[in-house]
Amino acid sequence: MKRIAVLTSGGDAPGMNAAIRAVTRAALAHGWAVFGVRNGYAGLLADALEPLAARDVGGIIQRGGTLLGSARCPEFADSACRARALAHLAARGIEALVVIGGNGSQSGSATLAREGLRVVGVPSTIDNDVHGNDVSIGADTAINVTLEAVDRLRTTASSHHRAFVVETMGRNCGHIALMAGIAGGAEVIAIPEREVEAPEVAERLRAAYRRGKTHALVVVAEGAKHGVHALLTLYGEQRASIGFDLRLTRLGHVVRGGVPSAVDRVLATRLGAAAVDCLAAGGSGVLVGVVRGDIVRTPLAEIAGRMRPADTALLDLARVLAM
Ligand code: F6P
Repeated sequence: MKRIAVLTSGGDAPGMNAAIRAVTRAALAHGWAVFGVRNGYAGLLADALEPLAARDVGGIIQRGGTLLGSARCPEFADSACRARALAHLAARGIEALVVIGGNGSQSGSATLAREGLRVVGVPSTIDNDVHGNDVSIGADTAINVTLEAVDRLRTTASSHHRAFVVETMGRNCGHIALMAGIAGGAEVIAIPEREVEAPEVAERLRAAYRRGKTHALVVVAEGAKHGVHALLTLYGEQRASIGFDLRLTRLGHVVRGGVPSAVDRVLATRLGAAAVDCLAAGGSGVLVGVVRGDIVRTPLAEIAGRMRPADTALLDLARVLAM
């Protein structure tokens, strides 16, 4: 092995830079040349690659986002486009690729592996929904950003005897909402893995008010089908009986930005280096992830098209404790 490339793809996640740094420097330590691909798979199609030296990835471990840029690239589903990308890599003598990204990105890497490229995936998505991996790079920071918002909203909620609905990111997976909801002592948590319809949320708020709660927090994942709209409509109709005055805060992309937590930096460092170790050992076509604290390799073919759901058992615990 002499030359590898690294790219970040899909929604950016805090810690991606730490992973780029780890991949680059671990590969340089093997004596390999490293190329950074601009803007994910789109950069492979456009042959937008640049050499990365040790100094190029200096001073980035603490920075959110991704130095390389990221993109969602639907064109990559087209085999002719992929053939172009593979030809660009071959022309540069690049033998392997490290893909840092979430589910969609790792489906792309599974396809490239099937088509003969040496590929190793590194799970990075705030949603934490990659199969074969307990914790994705970026999830811890996103949970903490959401939690900070929940804590701040709780102070104003308690001053005004209000209920707040906080919507956080999570397209198909409620992990961020669940973790931030539990850590923030939310009265109701609504996630796609277990929907709570608006009348039930209203009833739980009404009951909390009757039990003497002075304020309440509802944390909703963006992907929950009975999301915030239905609740607000119902609130308009049942305002008087619910007791609390209700307000909505949607966090949106705020959750994806900012400085990565120590947990995400360490995870990204371990996984980036593990991806290089895997290539050095002749491995390919796998995702390097963490399962029960250990680094494991899972075939990309097993991961593509699957999703890791949030742990719904914790929802039951949250509900009991919201008494
Ligand atoms: O990266 C995951 C995620 O942040 C989801 O939580 C969210 O639904 C989606 O990306 C938003 O995507 P975009 O930034 O392309 O609007």
